[in-house]
Amino acid sequence: MLTYDILIIGSGGAGLYAALESRMEEDLQVGVLTKVYPTRSHTGAAQGGVNAALANLDTTDTWQDHWFDTVKGSDYLADQDAAEIMAREAPIVVREMEHWGCPFSRTDEDKIAQRPFGGASKPRACYSADKVGHVMLHTLYEQGIRHGVNFLNEWQVLSLLHDGKRCQGVTAINIQTGRVHTINAKAVILATGGHGRIYWTRTSNALGNTGDGTAMAYRAGLPIKDMEFIQFHPTGLRRTGILMSEGARGEGAYLLNGLGERFMSRYAPEKMELGPRDLVSRSCETEVREGRGGPEGEVFLDMTHLGKERILEKLPQIRELCIEFEGVDPIDEPVPIKPTAHYSMGGIHTDINGQTQVEGIYAAGEAGCVSVHGANRLGGNSLLDILVFGKRAGKHALEYARGASFTPVSTEQEEKDTRMITDLMDGDGSSTIADIRRAMGNLMAEKVGVYRNSKDLETAVSELADLQEQFKQVQVKDQTKAFNTELVSALELKNMLDLAEVVAGGALERKESRGAHTREDHPERDDENWLSHTMATLGSDGRPNLEFSPVTITEFEPKARTY
Ligand code: FUM
Repeated sequence: MLTYDILIIGSGGAGLYAALESRMEEDLQVGVLTKVYPTRSHTGAAQGGVNAALANLDTTDTWQDHWFDTVKGSDYLADQDAAEIMAREAPIVVREMEHWGCPFSRTDEDKIAQRPFGGASKPRACYSADKVGHVMLHTLYEQGIRHGVNFLNEWQVLSLLHDGKRCQGVTAINIQTGRVHTINAKAVILATGGHGRIYWTRTSNALGNTGDGTAMAYRAGLPIKDMEFIQFHPTGLRRTGILMSEGARGEGAYLLNGLGERFMSRYAPEKMELGPRDLVSRSCETEVREGRGGPEGEVFLDMTHLGKERILEKLPQIRELCIEFEGVDPIDEPVPIKPTAHYSMGGIHTDINGQTQVEGIYAAGEAGCVSVHGANRLGGNSLLDILVFGKRAGKHALEYARGASFTPVSTEQEEKDTRMITDLMDGDGSSTIADIRRAMGNLMAEKVGVYRNSKDLETAVSELADLQEQFKQVQVKDQTKAFNTELVSALELKNMLDLAEVVAGGALERKESRGAHTREDHPERDDENWLSHTMATLGSDGRPNLEFSPVTITEFEPKARTY
């Protein structure tokens, strides 16, 4: 049996930062298990910025401004103690990244360059052209190699193991051999990213963002929090959902409707295109619903007035993406866009150190919910969250693992998981992975999108239950053991179905509009009844069981949000 003092699942920014922090003790065994190669993790797709009140552009910026903007942006659902930690520690982690060699763009005075981002009162998104996630991921990976982090590449997790009180480890399949293993670990840190792929084709997320760690924690009895809050990024490419960074609007790009109007003046007269994402996405959808969209139900991101030189210097990647995937050069013409499922505010419930309710089990980054983003995350706070809370989870897990002993574990779950895989191989084949996945994605996009109502949500809940039944008939036709990507897709689909049910169920239950959750039938925010976190656990009937817990308010009393 493999053993690790600390096993980190996921090799994006949160996982790698946690690994670096927990490597501080030489004689502890730390491993990072990932279903991809670390440099292909979804952190690499982040484009526009990481927030820190460095005050390099606007010298009046402070961490307190950042804290307030985050809480206001969250529609007051963020836990304010956690948001305070994130804003306070932001300058420390960003400078740490810089010292590790992260190549941020520079100001004329050679300081880290910053740009305006949505919902922020000051320009505080630190950037590296429009590739900040890519450069951060590579910096962290290089440091991981330098510090001897042990990587298990191309392994897929299956089950989280604990005895009710303490962590025991995980089971996982080695994709290279097809063999299931039990891995005994004192501490496990779940850093598997988000689950935007439950929207399948209407998402900016990588194919691998299937919520594996979150679903595994849910099935292991851990509560998952605020799952109904899914962020739609206003500017996804029309046909593919690929991200067009908010950095473009930070550089001065406009949003136009089909009539060529800068429509944000109707919805956010002060902030215009730099309103928070929930508001800007609703505005894009409203323009289309009211008949002012383009021929394919799109609106437009206009960068033409920025000029060739600025686009090539500051936004080179998104220009390439526009040309490759939409056949449009943003230097010459506006780019057709639609809101795209981008980020999961919810995730595995943790405290401010990433600790879950089971000793030794941690979560960080998009897989976790601490909660700093509440009902709506601000752009640039995701890359920050993975640094601050990846570091904290790694540090805390290290302290825990130093003092803890291994909790013994049998191979019972390994045997169950091996049988589950055999059953998938032997299914009757009357349903296919592709059909179920497409049906799930369409259902989520149509019924659990930017605008929601009880009728659509009831349909979504009931049809997802049907899809779960259909999944039982799936057959993995590829019977080979090594690199069976069809099998991996089946395992991912089960994870997505479990989480989609929680998202839709939570959205049906929450009878108010807050942040990214907009109910046409309950259009107002209702602090009296709904200023609370949704906690979902897996019920004995196989369906989500929802409870509610209070929000931590320390400094800012909830008030109306205007921009
Ligand atoms: O628009 C963007 O560049 C995305 C940033 C984020 O999600 O934080």
